[in-house]
Amino acid sequence: MSADHEIENLLQETRHFAPEAEFVAQAIAKPELYEQAKADRLGFWAEQAKKLHWHKPFTQVLDWSNAPFAKWFHDGELNISYNCLDRHVLAGNGDRVAIHFEGEPGDSRAITYAELTDQVKRAANVLLDLGVREGDRVAIYMPMIPEAVVAMQAVARIGAVHSVVFGGFSADSLTTRIDDAQAKLVITTDGGYRKGRALALKPAVDEALSGGKCPSVQNVLVYRRTNQDVNWVEGRDLDWTEALAAASPEHEAKGFNAEHPLFILYTSGTTGKPKGILHTTGGYLTQTTYTHKNVFDLHPEKDVYWCTADVGWITGHSYVVYGPLSNGATQVIYEGTPETPDWGRWWSIVEKYKVSILYTAPTAIRSFMKLGSSIPKQHDLSSIRVLGSVGEPINPEAWMWYRDVIGSGKAPIVDTWWQTETGAIMISPLPGITTLKPGSAQHALPGIEIKILDEAGTELGLEHAGLLVITEPWPSMLRGIWGDPDRYKETYWSRFEGKYFAGDGAKFDEEGNIWLLGRVDDVMNVSGHRLSTAEIESALVSHPFVAEAAVVGAKDETTGQAVVAFVILRQSQLEAAGSDADVSKILRDHVAKEIGPIAKPRQIMVVAELPKTRSGKIMRRLLRDVAEDRPIGDVTTLTDTSVMDIISGKIAGGAND
Ligand code: WTA
Repeated sequence: MSADHEIENLLQETRHFAPEAEFVAQAIAKPELYEQAKADRLGFWAEQAKKLHWHKPFTQVLDWSNAPFAKWFHDGELNISYNCLDRHVLAGNGDRVAIHFEGEPGDSRAITYAELTDQVKRAANVLLDLGVREGDRVAIYMPMIPEAVVAMQAVARIGAVHSVVFGGFSADSLTTRIDDAQAKLVITTDGGYRKGRALALKPAVDEALSGGKCPSVQNVLVYRRTNQDVNWVEGRDLDWTEALAAASPEHEAKGFNAEHPLFILYTSGTTGKPKGILHTTGGYLTQTTYTHKNVFDLHPEKDVYWCTADVGWITGHSYVVYGPLSNGATQVIYEGTPETPDWGRWWSIVEKYKVSILYTAPTAIRSFMKLGSSIPKQHDLSSIRVLGSVGEPINPEAWMWYRDVIGSGKAPIVDTWWQTETGAIMISPLPGITTLKPGSAQHALPGIEIKILDEAGTELGLEHAGLLVITEPWPSMLRGIWGDPDRYKETYWSRFEGKYFAGDGAKFDEEGNIWLLGRVDDVMNVSGHRLSTAEIESALVSHPFVAEAAVVGAKDETTGQAVVAFVILRQSQLEAAGSDADVSKILRDHVAKEIGPIAKPRQIMVVAELPKTRSGKIMRRLLRDVAEDRPIGDVTTLTDTSVMDIISGKIAGGAND
C-alpha cells in the first residue's frame, strides 16, 4: 500500500517509565498472563470465568458457529448480582464498605456489602411485585447516587434487562430510548444535585411518557433525593423508599443462562439514530471482573477505588457497577461536578477517602491542568498508587501532568482503550509489567487479539497507521444492536470479513506500542496526506500556551482538506500569549515544528470553550460545520449549547490568518 493511503503520524515520544520494584513485587498481574493467554486463549478465558460463582458450571467456552453472533460459556448459568453481592457476604466480607457515597452538598454515606445486598434484595422484590419478569426491559434515569447501583443490580438479579439513560439527556432522548426498548418500568428520582443546585429529573420522565408516547411503561418508581415537589400520577408512580421498606429482605438469586441479556446501552453512531448496544451476562462479567482486577491492580482488602464516570455511560456500567462489585472492591461514588463548591472538590474527596486508584477521562485531566497544579497541591494525594484514563487519546503532556501532579510523580498510568461495544478494556498497559510510554495505550490485554490493517485489509507493519480491528471474539463483546441484527453486521463486521472494525485509527510504533489516533471519521486528508486530529491536538497541547485543542478538517480548494484548530489557552499564559493573531502564528509554527509543515493548521481559533457531549467528547462534527461555514447541526447533546454561538460568532468575525 502506498504511503499516501496511510494516516500520517510523525509525532515522536521517547520517554519511558518502568514499573518500580516495590510495585512489581505486589502486583496482581504477572507476566505469565500473557504466556497463558497466548498458549491457549480459550482456556485462558475459561480460567477467568471460573473465578466467578456459577449456579451451573459451563462446559463450552465459545460458540462462534453463528458469527458474528457469539455465545460464551453458553451452557453455564450464573446470577450477576449474586456474584457482585451475596458471594462477598457469604465469604465473610459483609462489613466491608462497598460504596463511600459523597453527595454534592457534602452529605455522605458508607454502605457495606451486607447493606447493599439487603437493598438490592428488597428492590428485586419490589420489581417482581410490579410484574417485572425475566427479559423485561427497565429504563433507569437517575443521578450518580447509590440507588442507581441498587436499581441496576436489582434489575439484573431478577433477569430483567436494564437500559440506563444518562440523567443529562432530555425528555425526547428518554422517549426514544424507552420506546426502542419497550420498557415496562422507569426508575428515576425527583432530582439530584449539580453545580450547587437541586436539579429536577422527574419532570423529564413525566414529559417523556406524556400523551401516551410510551405505552409500554406501566409504572414509575421514584427515589426522593432532593425532596423537591414532584408531580405524582396515582396508580403509576411509586415511592422507592416506601416500597423497599415494605418489601421482603429475602430474595434468592437464581441462575440465568450465561447468554441471558443483561443490558442495553444506547450510543450515538456517527450518523442516524442511537444504537442500542446489547450485552449479555457470563462473558461480560468475566471480562469486566478480570480487567478491573488486573488493569487497576486491585487489592480489594485495602484499595479505595474511584471511577469518576457516570452510570449512564459504559464506563459506569463496567467499572462502577459490575467489575468493582464483582471483585469486592471498596469504591467512592460522587454525585456532583468537579467545580462544586470549588475546583478542589475531587482532590478533597481523594484525601478524605484515601483513594488509591483513580480512573477518569483526559478531558477532566486537561481541565484541571488548565487551572494549574496549585489546586491539587493543596491536598494530600499520597494515597494514590494507580491512575487510569479512558475515553479518548491522552496526549503526552496531560499524561505527564497527571502522573506528576496527581500521581506524586510515580503512580503508573493505565491508558485504557475500549468502547461501549467491547464492554470491557481491550488495550492497556498492566501496571506491574509494562514499561509505560506517555500517550500510548500500548498493548492488547492477554486474551485479546488486535491488528492494524490498511484499507484493503492487509496487515501493516510498525510505524504505519491504519485501521484498528479485533480479530478474535472476546467474552464481553456486544451481542448485537437491539432489534437490528443487520445494522450490527453492517456497522462492525462488513468492512473486513470476519473481523470487528472498531472505527478507530491506530499504529504500532517502532517498539510495538499501540497508539490510538482517533476515530477514522476524524481523520483529515490534506494534500493527499492523512493526518490524525488527535496527533495535531497533541502537538498543540504540548505548547505551554495551550490547555485544550480540537482539530478538524475543513474543505479547502487547494488541498482537499485543511486543518482548522480550536484552542483554549491556559489561564496563566493569557498575558504571555498576547493577541489572537500572535498566538495563531506561534502555534502554527509550533505544529509545523512538532509534526511537519503538512500538519500546520490553516486557521487557529482561540476560544473560551469547546462543544462537548455530556460524556466529555469534543463534537468535531459541529466544529467542522463552523470551520466550513455551514449552518450548525443538531446540538441537543451538548453540555452547553451557547458555546457554539460564541465560537461561530468568533469565526464569523474573520479568519485570523
Ligand atoms: C475512544 C468509552 C484513545 C475511541 C469506554 C473509542 C479512546 C471510543 C480510548 C469509544 C483511549 C476510548 N485512547 N481513544 N484510551 N478510550 N477511546 O463507546 O475512539 O464512549 O472508539 O466507550 O472512545 O467510546 P465509548
